[in-house]
Amino acid sequence: MATTIRFFLNGQLQEVSVRPDATVLDWLRNAQRLTGTKEGCAEGDCGACSVLIGDPLIDGDTVHYHAANSCILAMGQIDGRALVTVEGLKGEQLHPVQEAMAENGSSQCGFCTPGIVISIAGLAASNARAGDQDIHDALAGNLCRCTGYRPIVEAARKVVGAGGATVAGPQVAAFAKIEPRTLITGSGATYHQPASLGDLLQLRKDKPDAILLGGGTDLGVALADYHSDWDEVISLAHVRELRASRETENHLSFGAAVTWEEVLDRVTPFYPSFATLIRRFGSTQIRSMGTVGGNIGTASPIGDGPPALIALGAEVELASLSGHRFMPLEDFFLDYRKTELRLDEVIASVSIPKPKEGQAFRVYKISKRYDQDISTVCAAFSIIREEGQVRGARIAFGGMAATPQRAGQAEQALIGSSFDRKAIEACAAAITAQFKPLTDWRGSADYRIQVAANLAERFWRDVNGEVVEVMAL
Ligand SMILES: Cc1cc2nc3c(=O)[nH]c(=O)nc-3n(C[C@H](O)[C@H](O)[C@H](O)COP(=O)(O)OP(=O)(O)OC[C@H]3O[C@@H](n4cnc5c(N)ncnc54)[C@H](O)[C@@H]3O)c2cc1C
Ligand code: FES
Ligand code: FES
Repeated sequence: MATTIRFFLNGQLQEVSVRPDATVLDWLRNAQRLTGTKEGCAEGDCGACSVLIGDPLIDGDTVHYHAANSCILAMGQIDGRALVTVEGLKGEQLHPVQEAMAENGSSQCGFCTPGIVISIAGLAASNARAGDQDIHDALAGNLCRCTGYRPIVEAARKVVGAGGATVAGPQVAAFAKIEPRTLITGSGATYHQPASLGDLLQLRKDKPDAILLGGGTDLGVALADYHSDWDEVISLAHVRELRASRETENHLSFGAAVTWEEVLDRVTPFYPSFATLIRRFGSTQIRSMGTVGGNIGTASPIGDGPPALIALGAEVELASLSGHRFMPLEDFFLDYRKTELRLDEVIASVSIPKPKEGQAFRVYKISKRYDQDISTVCAAFSIIREEGQVRGARIAFGGMAATPQRAGQAEQALIGSSFDRKAIEACAAAITAQFKPLTDWRGSADYRIQVAANLAERFWRDVNGEVVEVMAL
């Protein structure tokens, strides 16, 4: 049993004795006095607390760094990893991102600047994606209230893809010294890190009250906002089987602990519209930690993953020591935050079929802001056409009921039709008849109904080539 959490902080090996549910932000600022990392919103929204997390790539010889929100990140989650703060970016000289920000006048009050530097450095370090869209994506989780984004984006353009903007840190071999341990304890808290599905399922059976932790982007908000305690945690982050993505001839499948950033990479060639949705899922910081299993497990009626996955015909795998159950994802959700998951089970994976001949798929997220916002309505449409006739249709909504839901009558209105205006009007009318959404501060019931029905028409126009996708500026 280990009582310390081991990781690299700005290149230096650390072994710290701290409750595994203490937030990384509090530890950095209070225990280490590394106050470059700021606290703004304390709920993953503003990016002021951004840090880089480094993991050795599986089967690779490089360390991959990505930005994360330290305000909702628990200390247990950095065990076995490298943590880089804005102080650690600078060596003898300023880091190229810091230099570009300074030269470009990209900072005024400076409060957001460390977080912004971290986000750009994370993108620059990967060096693989270097377009403007990638820069906007990398910055979508960082709020700046005074400089304005143009000088910030310009600074990023100078550095990203230019080479040389590396993150100094440990080599892959050094991670052997901090191999994650299966159990960490500290000040009354217990943090399990099983490495295999078998060990996870045994723990799940023995400790049904322990918190199952994916990436912590939902659970971590309570940790930061309400200072809730996690006395016993089972982390899924190191479970091999849950970390794997697979591609077969006809399917893509994702282990439950696969992050949304990884899903984004996998689905882009197959379902570009799903990829556009995922780019609007939280921010890079959120997508780099948040998992597909966590999005399903949290069973939010406004989660973005389920409507898209349901319309694509996803099947979810639930695992326990008694065996594995498979079911259509729509059947997993029973009622508001109630699911099929038993106390001894975990979500193991979700799989979707690859696109079929004649298939058209679109998913639309309606929210108050383009980026980093929760859906008011999320609508996903998939049809398969053969010889001009709709042979199959799957339509699913989020934000319209207590659970993500399929729109059965609306699907029927399309099946057998030639996908003409009359059919899409019948589809929209069926949507209006089926749903009785709530009014809340995101939108009234009337607004939701109208938007949902209008999105059917948008889908029709989109598939007929009339709608030009609006990109974020
Ligand atoms: C700033 C911010 C922005 C966000 N934006 C979006 C957004 O745009 N769209 C959206 O849909 N969501 C959004 N979220 C919510 C969240 O990021 C997602 O729901 C994410 O996918 C959760 O995954 P996680 O691994 O972080 O879950 P966790 O927080 O680790 O867990 C969430 C729940 O799922 C359970 N769970 C996790 N894994 C499993 C498993 N394998 N089996 C059974 N139960 C499991 C946990 O016990 C917990 O109850 C946002 C959150 C924040 C803080
Ligand atoms: S303090 Fe705002 S995202 Fe962490
Ligand atoms: S420089 Fe003031 S918030 Fe960005």
